Amino acid sequence: MALKGDQPQTPVLRKHYQPPAWLVDSMDMTIALDSEQTCVRSELTIRRNPQSNDSQAPLMLYGVGLDTQHVQLNERVLDESDYHIQGETLTIDEVPDSARVVTEVQINPSQNTALEGLYQSGNSLLTQCEAEGFRKITWFADRPDVMSVFRVRLEADAERYPLLLSNGNLIESGTLDQGRHYAIWDDPFPKPSYLFALVAGDLGLLEDTFMTVSGREVALKVYSEHDNIDQLDHAMESLKKSMAWDEQRYGLEYDLDVYHIVATHDFNMGAMENKSLNIFNARYVLADPNTATDFDYAGVEGVIAHEYFHNWTGNRVTCRDWFQLTLKEGLTVFRDQEFSADMQSAAVTRIQNIDGLMNRQFPEDAGPMAHPIRPQRYVEINNFYTATVYEKGAEIIRMYQTLLGREGFRNGMDLYFERHDGQAVTCDDFLAAMADANDFDLSQFSRWYNQVGTPKLKVEANWIESEGALELAFEQSLIDHPDNSDLGPLLIPVRLGFIDTQGHAVAAQLNGNRQSEFLIKLTESVQTLRFEGFDQRPVVSLLRDYSAPVALTFDWSEQELALLLAHDADPVARWLAGKRLAAGVLDRAIEQVQQKREVERPEHLISAWRAVLAQAEQEPALAAELLQLPGESELALRNTPVDVEAIHAARNQIVGFLVEELDEPLQQCYQQFADNKAWQFTSEQVGRRRLANTCLGWRVAGRSEAADAQAVTQIQSADNLTDRFAALGALVRADSDQVQDQLEAFAARYRDNPLVMDKWFALQAMQPKSSAVEQVKALMQHESFSLKNPNKVRALIGSFGMHNPIAFHRKDGAGCELMADVVCELDAINPQVAARLVAVFNRWSDYAEPYRANMQAALDTILAQPGLSNDVSEIASAARKRT
Ligand code: TRP
Ligand code: ZN
Repeated sequence: MALKGDQPQTPVLRKHYQPPAWLVDSMDMTIALDSEQTCVRSELTIRRNPQSNDSQAPLMLYGVGLDTQHVQLNERVLDESDYHIQGETLTIDEVPDSARVVTEVQINPSQNTALEGLYQSGNSLLTQCEAEGFRKITWFADRPDVMSVFRVRLEADAERYPLLLSNGNLIESGTLDQGRHYAIWDDPFPKPSYLFALVAGDLGLLEDTFMTVSGREVALKVYSEHDNIDQLDHAMESLKKSMAWDEQRYGLEYDLDVYHIVATHDFNMGAMENKSLNIFNARYVLADPNTATDFDYAGVEGVIAHEYFHNWTGNRVTCRDWFQLTLKEGLTVFRDQEFSADMQSAAVTRIQNIDGLMNRQFPEDAGPMAHPIRPQRYVEINNFYTATVYEKGAEIIRMYQTLLGREGFRNGMDLYFERHDGQAVTCDDFLAAMADANDFDLSQFSRWYNQVGTPKLKVEANWIESEGALELAFEQSLIDHPDNSDLGPLLIPVRLGFIDTQGHAVAAQLNGNRQSEFLIKLTESVQTLRFEGFDQRPVVSLLRDYSAPVALTFDWSEQELALLLAHDADPVARWLAGKRLAAGVLDRAIEQVQQKREVERPEHLISAWRAVLAQAEQEPALAAELLQLPGESELALRNTPVDVEAIHAARNQIVGFLVEELDEPLQQCYQQFADNKAWQFTSEQVGRRRLANTCLGWRVAGRSEAADAQAVTQIQSADNLTDRFAALGALVRADSDQVQDQLEAFAARYRDNPLVMDKWFALQAMQPKSSAVEQVKALMQHESFSLKNPNKVRALIGSFGMHNPIAFHRKDGAGCELMADVVCELDAINPQVAARLVAVFNRWSDYAEPYRANMQAALDTILAQPGLSNDVSEIASAARKRT
């Protein structure tokens, strides 16, 4: 049997980039919409690109799954001998240097379950074009360095689709025969086809306006189903805040008279920044206190900001080719992180960003799909919308700001826009603007765009008592990977400071300069620095603010970590110290479980948590972050070969010790912060709720009946979903006796709300018991579940694979088998979403038996599936090749 994984898939290589042979100056579309048979007529005004290396190249357009009715060059209608269609391309050989090309195709949106191109969601028709979805709508030079002015005429049934939207300004609308109507949209800004969008439907609207700094009034329109228009206010507020922030922080103003946001329940990702017509997964738009948690509110605020910020970083200045994706995504994630830091608690926002990086990006960088933030090759570009490109990319951007300062970074941004507004550019162009604006040599820094894997930074301290000096020896290294060979050392910014054994900050001298904090720029593989002027041996606080995305090795004692956790000046360093302390304790406990020894009581961790609880009042949101433990998947990354059951047992035992010792302060803290003020989304209230719910969660995890009762009371009395859901989640994670009743009551209450039902599915998928496998199978038959809906798939199947190690890795293999079966079935429906699930098998070779064999068998099942998509096969075969 030939496995798809055996067939070489031809990757696209970054080094093969060629400028386009043809440019498309304008694109005129007439789209006669119908859910079954949509007719698309496109008129392209093309000319040869003077920049092209091939002045004789034929005209090539991309198209996928199009039923081609008509092809015309200038006045001449072509017959099938005048052009050829092969794979994804249509080629016309004899074309004058400038011409008009007309095509007509038919497509069927109702059959489009991949949710790429034009598709149906509920009773609406809408599009998703990034990265290469436009070619599923019409023939076009569908690549981001071809930018055109679009004019779009939409026609549709007036009753079914009263709303007709596309990019830019509405210039005309009116009625047609047979109950149809039309609207003509004109976008004055040249854009790549991936930013094209249309929406046709019958939707409700919330309207507002924003006055830009220069005094232009922008109409803001947020759309959802009619029933949900009372859940749009938070999205609107977030949009206005984003617009004001970008003006204030970067001097960037909105550039059109209207901005649309449309919410849909069927969406492959979070949201899409189509010019003036953002399309959003409903989960990042809809919010009210009873159907969205604080976490969801922050998600809406962050994603609205992200898509809005793309208008400059992505749309006005776009990517030359898809290898440059981090140019817009890393930068825009950085911008939305900075925005959220300004809106919410800055420290907690930063901590949550780092936590996300460590939990989602580190495993990617340690797995078979590891790639630089600017990849060298891909088979399916959709597989490269990754935590590496996005979150690690944002850390690289943050390092520019760390190195150049906020003002220097702003100057670099200004120069970037001055040089490249209206262009499709590369990461090198961004780096050059930063370097030139600051007269700063960034050539060594550019290696961050090429390196693969989380860089290691090993630091060793040498205390010279007689001289009151501390020498720090830094050694950096990259993982063994072909892309890393000959790269040389990175420029690594390391922010550091010192505290004494009482926890007070102490200044030190480096090269004659006395400072309380240092920003070191490491440039060598091995490098030693000598800090002087200490009265006693200090404790080093390294990598403050997590100044570089590296894996740090340093030999702190547990006392020192507890001291840093309690006292360091930098909240991020406190949190990193706490995490390191807990991880060390858990690693040891795992070993003890494996050796069937008694698990040690974690004295330093207990007293550190006691101190955090005692000072919780200072910043409750930060205290809540300091009272978390690494999850089982994070522990699986540190403890190989992964022993799933030992990790689960060890972590539970440590939780048991903590809760037993700290029951009283946890209870007190809960009482203090679980106040019954009317719900509001303020950073103060969010912090208090998060702390109270953290305390409740730990007490329920400690399996006390009193805590269970408290959780049930909270579910019943809460005036908001945050508290209700946190209490329910605590019961589920502890597998409490109360769970079934409470889950049923929850479903009865929220039956009609798909977003809240997603949470209900996710909770059950994560119930830590081996029968969760059967439970997930049963829930797949639930009336609210559908494999066609990505949110449902992520909630039930994704959560099961990623957050329920005990069931997913059940020793009889039933968990992995279930996942393989779902991937195969889903691949025929929606390959993009199916491919995301395959990542749960990436690290199969790091697992102990029988987990390893189960994962391997699942990959084989997937690879044996006939007609597997490129999306799934790229990931599954990369994983399978690992040993
Ligand atoms: N550009 C989108 C963002 O803001 C990402 C995105 C949305 C996307 N939908 C997609 C990427 C579909 C690939 C496929 O990050
Ligand atoms: Zn983005």
